[in-house]
Amino acid sequence: MKINGMDSRDILSGLVVNLYKKAINPSFEFPLAIRLIDTPDLAKAIFLAPDTFVKNYFFLESLSKGRFSANGEDWKRRAAITQPFYSQATTVLDEQALEAIYAKHIQLYLHSSQPKLSETFINAALEAISRMFGLSNNIAWPAELVSRARAALVDQQAIAWLGSSPKLAEQSQRELRLIFAEFSSLWQADPELMQLLDQFNARAQGLADFSAAGELLQSLFAATETAASGMLWAIECMTRYATLPAIMHPELHPAEIGFFLDEVLRIFTPVPYVSRVCTKASVINGQAFAENEAIIISIVGVHSDPKHWHEPLLFKPKREEFVNASYARHAYIPFLSGPRACAGMKLARQEVKCGMQALLKVFAVQACVEPRGLDYGLASRPSVQLERYLTPRLEVSV
Ligand code: HEM
Repeated sequence: MKINGMDSRDILSGLVVNLYKKAINPSFEFPLAIRLIDTPDLAKAIFLAPDTFVKNYFFLESLSKGRFSANGEDWKRRAAITQPFYSQATTVLDEQALEAIYAKHIQLYLHSSQPKLSETFINAALEAISRMFGLSNNIAWPAELVSRARAALVDQQAIAWLGSSPKLAEQSQRELRLIFAEFSSLWQADPELMQLLDQFNARAQGLADFSAAGELLQSLFAATETAASGMLWAIECMTRYATLPAIMHPELHPAEIGFFLDEVLRIFTPVPYVSRVCTKASVINGQAFAENEAIIISIVGVHSDPKHWHEPLLFKPKREEFVNASYARHAYIPFLSGPRACAGMKLARQEVKCGMQALLKVFAVQACVEPRGLDYGLASRPSVQLERYLTPRLEVSV
């Protein structure tokens, strides 16, 4: 969709690029008339006050309501519905199970006539969350419908930032209602999934405006887009460091992969910013916020704060702060911090690590000298076509 003559996807990607420009050059003037928070102390204080700084994700609620976008009591009630599954996610899915899931999808990729890495990792993450919810089959998540939903949600976000004619806003809301109806009807064909949704409904007794399918939809987007983004950025970083034998090695020590991934999630954090709105005039860490003031917290900015990171804009596969575990915890928040931190954090970290281990056993990564770029939809992704830089290792291709 074009908004003010610009493609909505370019508007959002441009916003994220500007967060990097600001991190590189603090005097860079952020072109959006919205307050930008990029210091770890203030970000932490804001995350610790979730009732004052509430989530501001109406764009997502045009598709469905759920724990990701909810606030206050509504959030507490909604979170309680799925929390039992999240709390035992890494028990249900140990590292072996996660690596097997990724290995399976990497084999499908290897033998596909039209291999697409992003879809491969989305499908692997979908399988992981389907198992987390105790399902034996994967939840229906057709690539074409997901891609339509992503595009319409990008339009909604761009509209939220820049405004648009009521006609355009209504057009994209109508598209999201159609998409929701398509997911719901697909899911009705799966009796096991319907039982899970019945369980959600039973736990939601008395909760206004509750749709079990809507609740699930938010969890699925939260789980798949981000984990796939982490995998893609990890590969992208490897293409830049492919000459490092330690990074190329399929038997790479898990700790080394861990440090490498910590750094990937620091610089190329899948969620580069979060947005909030202040519900009442407040002073936090000496800074005044007005009632109804909207803010963006730049995770990119927090992750490149020079007071907390040595040479913050340099990618270091074995960054000292991670090796020595000496980094300030509030300066490293790929999963956020405080009560609204990522519900799938533990699973997600293990997932990306196991996914990389599975990938390295099958593929070698070639060096890439193309210029770096990013594409932002629901998470940040590298814009380079990574498929070109993976070559099957000889022992698995014969
Ligand atoms: C590398 C992968 C991931 C990253 C970087 C990530 C990051 C985040 C961040 C930054 C938030 C907070 C957003 C905000 O406050 O505006 C969040 C929330 C959330 N994430 Fe993740 N996430 C990842 C993977 C996952 C996975 C795999 C799942 C599910 C299995 C998941 C489920 C959720 C849920 C349900 C929330 C909302 C929590 C709440 O407030 O109730 N995430 N995630």
